[in-house]
Amino acid sequence: MSVEIDIEESLPKEEKYKLLIAKINTLIEGEKNLISNTANITSAIKYTFKDFLWTGFYFTDKEKDNELVLGPFQGRVACIRIPFGKGVCGTSALKRETIIVADVNDFPGHIVCDSMSKSEIVVPVIKDNLVMGVLDIDSDIPDNFDNTDKIYLEMIIKNIIHLF
Ligand code: SME
Repeated sequence: MSVEIDIEESLPKEEKYKLLIAKINTLIEGEKNLISNTANITSAIKYTFKDFLWTGFYFTDKEKDNELVLGPFQGRVACIRIPFGKGVCGTSALKRETIIVADVNDFPGHIVCDSMSKSEIVVPVIKDNLVMGVLDIDSDIPDNFDNTDKIYLEMIIKNIIHLF
């Protein structure tokens, strides 16, 4: 397996996402382990975009419904548990929709894990009508996420949904 797909920093965002999706497909090929695959995926995403400060998954806790628990991530240490409805992650899990926050200070109840974070996108992971978790990305640049990020990150989740 070759994972040596280099993604040039200077490429437009859309082109980077297309290469990233190819890279992720190669990374997960033939491997079903959720932790290993999601760990590699968070690394692939974070290191494709130098302005992504933190990239990680929260999984729905199987024992405590309606609570997210920290999964594989790349970045500084983060809070471990987030109830559905709390913060950006919990709100995305509750509403079952992708949330883009241009300025984290403007989001009521935003949970601060790293004070360097300025903007955020959270994509829910939904399988068989159940919320399996969320993919959370923070940036140190304000207003760093738009509909292009939403489209491609949702595509990444769709491509890996069989792992959950
Ligand atoms: N900011 C998130 C918490 C998770 S960290 O950013 C890693 C939130 O408000 O849900």
